[in-house]
Amino acid sequence: MNYIGSKFSLLEFIENSINNILSKNNETKSPNKIIFADLFAGTGCVGGYFKSLGYSIIANDIQYYSYVITKHMIENNGNLDKDRMIVLIEELNNVNGIEGFIYNNYTFEGTKGQEFRRMYFTADNAKKCDAIRQKLEEWLRIQYINENEYYFLLGSLINSIDRCANTASVYGAYLKKFKASALKPMKLIPLPYTIGHVDCKVYNEDINTLIKKVKGDILYLDPPYNERQYCANYHILETIAKNDNPIIKGKTGLRDYQSQKSDFCVKSKVCDAFENLIKNANFKYIFLSYNNEGLMTLDQIEKIMSKYGDYSLYTQEYRRFKADNNRNNKATTTIEYLHCLVKRDINV
Ligand SMILES: C[S@@+](CC[C@H](N)C(=O)[O-])C[C@H]1O[C@@H](n2cnc3c(N)ncnc32)[C@H](O)[C@@H]1O
Repeated sequence: MNYIGSKFSLLEFIENSINNILSKNNETKSPNKIIFADLFAGTGCVGGYFKSLGYSIIANDIQYYSYVITKHMIENNGNLDKDRMIVLIEELNNVNGIEGFIYNNYTFEGTKGQEFRRMYFTADNAKKCDAIRQKLEEWLRIQYINENEYYFLLGSLINSIDRCANTASVYGAYLKKFKASALKPMKLIPLPYTIGHVDCKVYNEDINTLIKKVKGDILYLDPPYNERQYCANYHILETIAKNDNPIIKGKTGLRDYQSQKSDFCVKSKVCDAFENLIKNANFKYIFLSYNNEGLMTLDQIEKIMSKYGDYSLYTQEYRRFKADNNRNNKATTTIEYLHCLVKRDINV
């Protein structure tokens, strides 16, 4: 998934930096004894990567679509029958489309006669998405599929419909003409399946609430770094994931997202939210990914983290996310920082 702030291409940098800190601190625990928390999980790729290395993972995100995808990536662990999954995917790929919530609100044909004609998906792709989404609820209700299968299939739907979205990158606007990828018929593509060696757990909470309830060894933090709220940028994926037919408004058909607004996207709140997080974290090793254009300055981050233990910094040059090009800053690369803290006085 093409996700704002995805760390997919920085996984090696993150792994090497973490290994460096662990060995400098003579950490003797083997990966399968280490609890690694990825609590701003997004696509779940960081937690998924460390799961494949043998770590025990706790993951979390405030967005429900992220929870669904991550729940599959992190919690499904050798419990899915691959042949059966291929059959189910095939069955879903052959369902007949229906005119449901996505068709009626996010296609040109479905919004005929409404104040706003929206062009997020072609009519056929939206109808297919609606039909698959309803089928998944029905299958779960009649116990044709279990919960593990449900999250795998729903995550695959979210990922697949996102590939057909007629947007420049996020759902804050749609394009006035259909782009080539949006015109292709949607095909349900199975999400990858990572086998780990230990139990893992995924949550869907505000991180500052969850942090008081979990503990472990490594805490990896990848918060939003600017004022663009994820709930607004990915509102249609949230609606597909929740299947809750919300009241929507405006040109983009935005759902209400007051309860999912992040303090990490508000300049006047971010430092307090970050300090509370660090203060309440029952983890010895804390790593923060942040870039050089974030709401918190490098100095502010260093000051906050240094209060709680030994601080150090790793850097890597990084290609900018495409939706961020041509905003105020025209540089095509940015510097990605990994701030590291070895925390003292943990309240475990
Ligand atoms: C930079 S993205 C994470 C990207 C992720 N590391 C990846 O590689 O896909 C930040 C994520 O933090 C989530 N988020 C923002 N504020 C949050 C909060 N207060 N609690 C939990 N999650 C939050 C957003 O929904 C978003 O998915």
